[in-house]
Formats: sequence, structure tokens, C-alpha cells
Amino acid sequence: MNKVQSLSGTPCLGKKHFWLGALAILSVSLAVHGESREVDTDGAGEGLESQFTDLRTLVEIPEKPRQVLLEDMLDHLAVLNEINHYLAANDLNSAAEVAETGMGRSLLSKYQDVDMRPGRYMPKDMREIGWELHNAATQFAEVARKGNLQATMVAYHRITTACVACHFSYRIR
Ligand code: HEC
Repeated sequence: MNKVQSLSGTPCLGKKHFWLGALAILSVSLAVHGESREVDTDGAGEGLESQFTDLRTLVEIPEKPRQVLLEDMLDHLAVLNEINHYLAANDLNSAAEVAETGMGRSLLSKYQDVDMRPGRYMPKDMREIGWELHNAATQFAEVARKGNLQATMVAYHRITTACVACHFSYRIR
């Protein structure tokens, strides 16, 4: 996965490549979607599946850790929403607290039973994006505690970039 490697390798240049890649995928799916709306007039909906090109890599994860991953994801979404709430209220200390405890590096050892850790079953590139998310959240907390909203938003973007990077590259079903 080129775009993933460049993302974790050289942050600045890599990001540019990533966004170009993301844009390409987005425009392809938008184009496909637009086309399918024209073609798919019989209401059966069968056209969509065959015309949608899924470029993500399928990663097979056993049922239990797969469940754990999806639960963690819903949790990430809720944490992100809570961070938004505190950012809007300019309460950067609370935003830092939520990010650190809900998404930071301390989460990585959440599961004592290693077989339950989804990271175990991820290809290396995917796992690295996972680490990047946790590092980004930890860094976000550090920056937010210094009290500068603009710098905090830059750190926040690093978090959401990790979400997007993984979602554009991998699926588990
Ligand atoms: C290391 C990879 C990775 C990272 C980083 C990541 N996700 Fe995910 N996420 C996934 C995968 C894989 C799925 C399942 C996709 C599928 O359905 O096949 C998923 C699914 C989800 C879902 C749907 C859950 C469900 O029950 O269907 C949500 C919501 C989500 N992610 C939110 C987030 C948010 C928010 C972030 C960032 C804060 C994030 N994810 C970061 C890999 C990741």
C-alpha cells in the first residue's frame, strides 16, 4: 500500500500523496455513484454493488477480536464527538483529558488477553496507522494542555487523518 507507507514514512510529503490518493478514490466512487443512479432505474438496486469498486484491502480477523475492534470504533467516534464538544467550548484541558484517556497510548494494553487484541491480526501497515492514531491522541493532549486553540486544531487534524487513512485502506468484512 503505497499511500499508507508514505503516510507513515515522510509525514509532509506522504500526506500530500495520501490526499491525492484519497481524492482519486473519492472521485471514482462519486463518479460511479452518479452513474449508477442513472442506470439503476428499475429500483432493484442490484446495479450498485457491481459498479462500486472497493479498493480497500480485506483483513480477516477472528470473530471476537473483530467485535472488539468494532466496539473500539464506536468508542472512538464518541470520544471524537466529546472532544468536539470541549473544543467548541474552548475547554482545552477537558479535551486533552478525554483524548488521552479515551484514545491515547494508554489504551493499547487495554486487553490483557493478547488474542483479543485486534492489532495482532492486522498487517504491519494497518497496525502502524493504529499506533499513529494513539500517538496523535497523546500528542493532541500535550498540545491542548498548553492552551493554544489553533495549535490544538492542527493536532486534532492529525487524529482524524489517522481515522481516514485506515478507513480508506482497509475493511474487515
Ligand atoms: C487502524 C485502522 C483504523 C483506525 C486508525 C480507525 N479505524 Fe475505524 N474502522 C476500522 C475498520 C477496519 C473498520 C471496519 C470497516 C468494515 O466495516 O469493514 C472500522 C469501522 C469504524 C466504524 C463503524 C463501526 C461499526 O460498528 O460498524 C466507526 C464508527 C469508526 N470506525 C470510527 C473511527 C474513528 C472515529 C476513528 C478515528 C478516531 C477510527 N475509526 C480509526 C479501522 C480503523
